[in-house]
Amino acid sequence: MRPIQMVDLRSQYLRLKAGIDQAIQGVLLSTEFINGSETKAFEKELSDYTGSAFTIGCANGTDALQLALLALDLPPGAEVITPSFSYAALAEMILLCGYKPVFVEVNPRTFTMDPAALVAAITPATKVIAPVHLYGQCADMESILHIASKFNLYVIEDTAQAIGARYTFSNGTVKTAGTMGHIGTTSFFPSKNLGCYGDGGAVFTQEETLARKLRMLANHGQRVKYTHEIVGMNSRLDSLQAAILRVKLQNLDAFTKARNEVADAYDEAFSHVEGVLVPARQVGSSHVFHQYTLTFGSAEIRNDVKDALSANGIPSMIYYPVPLHRQEAYRQEVSMPLTEDLTERVLSLPIHTEMDAEQIGFIVSTLKQSIEQTIKQ
Ligand SMILES: Cc1ncc(COP(=O)(O)O)c(C=O)c1O
Repeated sequence: MRPIQMVDLRSQYLRLKAGIDQAIQGVLLSTEFINGSETKAFEKELSDYTGSAFTIGCANGTDALQLALLALDLPPGAEVITPSFSYAALAEMILLCGYKPVFVEVNPRTFTMDPAALVAAITPATKVIAPVHLYGQCADMESILHIASKFNLYVIEDTAQAIGARYTFSNGTVKTAGTMGHIGTTSFFPSKNLGCYGDGGAVFTQEETLARKLRMLANHGQRVKYTHEIVGMNSRLDSLQAAILRVKLQNLDAFTKARNEVADAYDEAFSHVEGVLVPARQVGSSHVFHQYTLTFGSAEIRNDVKDALSANGIPSMIYYPVPLHRQEAYRQEVSMPLTEDLTERVLSLPIHTEMDAEQIGFIVSTLKQSIEQTIKQ
């Protein structure tokens, strides 16, 4: 059996090698490294793929969040509501921009922002709702957009983990992750579903004025070279990464299908196992399974299973072990029992585009055996 990894970028590269090598060679020979035609072509192709009116490449998914926050021109101290059960980038950028993160609970079955908790957190200082489409499926966007419009708030969607996920509204309208709010952001970190070979990110918007502003902010506040109209930053998606991403984008649907096949096999294997819950699907959303995350009956079971997997050469990860409101950098003295409990009980299994049946079978049998033993003890 091939060794099991959380992600297997080497095997994926070897499979796509001819196209990727040719794309890289093309950039090297063109010497158009920055602001070249590859970046423009990728932005256009990603817009076509997601149905976004505007896509602006940038240096990484964290910059994408900073650009989104800056583009909205919020007053100092503005409150941005976001889940505590998430990656740190959003909380970090909210604070760096001089705003206040207001952490809310997630739905513990879907792992995305709980609309009831969101409503309860709204104050006169609230300006933005920032859901995270965690693990690969969209948050309850129908409810979130309804609340945003009722309270006149902006929506920034962090879709770093859910590129390509589709959301069907109750009126039948279908949109993709990142194109439903005022601004969407994504990351092309190598292990992401659409990953480059370094850092990369993008911002989506459907509004032309916001698109213009985002582009200026990402380019030192310039529209015309050496004319700086606003204070901006340098955040570019370089041509090499864009050329690699163009090849990978052509494969994204196949990547998503492969991930779903692994998820289906895990679902089938674990759906009726005592002591563990398979991830629930958000109504309306498709899932691109950036992560496949189980919830165990207790911290003890989770930790025992993690150790047993590891002893058999199977990696697994805890996303995320510490809630954001308990991190030293963003600490808030609030109690968030659902989030705190989840961090003790979740475990993400290997899932990627190169997994084979033998690897999946071994993970399934090892996990089932270890959970049976743990529960019997
Ligand atoms: C939900 C989420 N937001 C933002 C980011 C930040 O992206 P990047 O690493 O490209 O800055 C990540 C990446 O790990 C993420 O998972």
